[in-house]
Formats: sequence, structure tokens, C-alpha cells
Amino acid sequence: MNKIVKYIIGIIAVVVILLQFMGPDAPDNRENNPDDLLMNTQVDAEVAGLLRASCYDCHSMETKYPWYSKISPVSGFLFDHIEEGRDELNFSNWQTYEKRRKLRKLKEIQEEIEEGEMPMKSYTLVHGEARLSDSQKELIINWAKDYSKKVFSE
Ligand code: HEC
Repeated sequence: MNKIVKYIIGIIAVVVILLQFMGPDAPDNRENNPDDLLMNTQVDAEVAGLLRASCYDCHSMETKYPWYSKISPVSGFLFDHIEEGRDELNFSNWQTYEKRRKLRKLKEIQEEIEEGEMPMKSYTLVHGEARLSDSQKELIINWAKDYSKKVFSE
């Protein structure tokens, strides 16, 4: 191998190793979530399973971190998504949301899924099990519609 190439690979290796000591901490998980959506509302088992498989890693306090998720610089990218995702919509805190916020989020869920924006593409690329088929999308959208009516009339 060319000397320069070896040198460059060496530098990259050192940088990646150093990054491991400087990377951000993973957003904390929380074990007990009494305000969780699925703990408080009757969600059809299939829909609940889909939300857990496709959304909960970024939209709940129960993120499942794969081994590579703690390796910098991948971690920074993932942690940002998790923090941002939780800020926007956190199913673990669902019951603390006011009625208006619940309704807005349920509307957004329908839109994001219809447009294929959620779950994020960078996520389904690695998490094949999180990909939604058309009929699965429909299930979630119909659930969100029905549940909105219920929240509205509460
Ligand atoms: C890899 C992480 C990740 C996954 C998985 C994921 N989301 Fe998101 N989600 C985000 C991030 C980051 C944002 C905020 C930035 C944005 O809107 O793109 C967001 C935003 C949202 C919003 C708010 C959008 C708005 O209009 O402001 C909704 C609703 C949403 N996601 C629903 C879902 C649903 C439903 C699923 C599962 C089917 C899902 N997300 C899966 C990361 C994720």
C-alpha cells in the first residue's frame, strides 16, 4: 500500500478512537412510564406493535440502542434524532399532553405516515422491521383518526 494512504488511514483511525472519548452521552431511557399512550388507552394490539416497532425508538423513553449506536460519530447523529423525536412527540408522556396537543399530534401522525416521512428513511434503511407496508400504514392512520374522535369528545 502506498505510504500516504497508510498515513491517512492511520490518522482516521486515531481520530475515530479519540472521538469515542468525546462523543455525546446517549439520551437517557426511563423504565416506568405510567403516562405512556399504550398503558392508558385501548390500542389495537397490531397497531400497538407497529408503533413500538416503527416509532418508539425515537418517540418514547424506551429507545433500544443497537451496539453501533454508541460509536461516535454515528452516535451523535442518532442521539440528535432521538432527542428531536422525543421533543416533537413522546408516547411515554402522552397522558401529560393537553387535549389540543394530542389532537395536533394525531393529525401529524396521519400526515407523516401518509407522506412516507415517518419512520425516517435513514432508520428503516437499517431497521427493516420498522418499514411499514401500505396496509400497515392504513392501520395506523385509521387508528389515529378514530382515536382523535375519542380525544375530541373527551
Ligand atoms: C429515527 C428516529 C425516528 C423514528 C423511528 C420515527 N421518527 Fe418521527 N420524528 C423524528 C424526528 C427527528 C422528528 C423531528 C424532525 C422532523 O419533523 O423531521 C420527528 C417528527 C415526528 C412528528 C412531528 C412532525 C411535525 O409535523 O412536526 C411526528 C408526528 C412523527 N415524527 C411521527 C412518527 C411516527 C408515527 C413514527 C413511526 C411510524 C415515527 N415518527 C418514527 C424521528 C423519528
